Amino acid sequence: YPIFAQSQYENPREATGRIVCANCHLGAKPTEVEVPQSVLPDTVFEAVVKIPYDTSVQQVQGDGSKGPLNVGAVLMLPDGFKLAPEDRMTDEQKEKAAELYIQPYSDAHPNWLVVGPVPGEQYQEIEFPILSPDPKTDKSLRFGKYPVHVGGNRGRGQVYPTGQKSNNAVYNASAAGQISAIAKTEEGGYTVTITGENGATATDEIPAGPELIVAQGDTVKAGDPLTSNPNVGGFGQVDKEIVLQNPDRIKGLLAFFAIVSLTQIMLVLKKKQVERVQAAEMNF
Ligand code: HEM
Repeated sequence: YPIFAQSQYENPREATGRIVCANCHLGAKPTEVEVPQSVLPDTVFEAVVKIPYDTSVQQVQGDGSKGPLNVGAVLMLPDGFKLAPEDRMTDEQKEKAAELYIQPYSDAHPNWLVVGPVPGEQYQEIEFPILSPDPKTDKSLRFGKYPVHVGGNRGRGQVYPTGQKSNNAVYNASAAGQISAIAKTEEGGYTVTITGENGATATDEIPAGPELIVAQGDTVKAGDPLTSNPNVGGFGQVDKEIVLQNPDRIKGLLAFFAIVSLTQIMLVLKKKQVERVQAAEMNF
């Protein structure tokens, strides 16, 4: 959950560029983002994060039964950008933002936003209404091109913040040897006993969820998978760029175009005038 990232990491993006959700959500799946190429200061625009997946597929829930997937996302905007305040949102945006419960990552970083978990069937596209900052009123900011980092996830993670595995993960043999017993547990999982060459036994508890791929009598090496991988979800991240555009530059550009057009017209008029004089001179 995004809250796991918020409580474990001050910055959701590591020095390598990896977004921390990937530390616990081990499957890799695509995520996309749409942001305008450039935005003017003090303007509300939308960033759309897309987390596509096949909604007919179900995943293993905490109790081992099957159920639908939820999605979540983290959107890292440049300094000064933030979730649009309610009075700047359209009615439609207000409604959606209330349903999605978009939150700043932390008090220190209102320019990083998180969402989720929300039902994946409804929210394979998540729209974030964003307010751009104005460098004219906030002198610490500058116009220019900035990176935007986005992470999107569908489905349950494989590791809890405590380091414990979830039941949506592969379980491996803790020792080498022969599988001497497999017992079903009351919760729907298994206790697998492995007897090593020297007669020592190791037991591996497998919760309800992942399917066993070994049988009694099989020989395994330490680390070999005892179960299939039940994870059908995954995490993906993308980087984009956004330009915080100085409106004076656009006005300057338009003025330049106007001057160029005017000089061109003047040149044509001058040429016509010269032609008229030449024509008049030829009559003598
Ligand atoms: C569950 C998103 C970070 C571990 C979920 C779910 C979402 C999600 C949407 C619900 C999935 C479902 O019910 O189908 C995210 C995002 C993250 C993030 C966007 C980063 C901003 C983390 C981190 C950890 C983690 C850092 C580990 C420390 C888990 C686990 C579950 C889970 C174990 C399953 C919980 C359960 O059902 O018992 N996450 N997550 N997640 N997440 Fe994350």
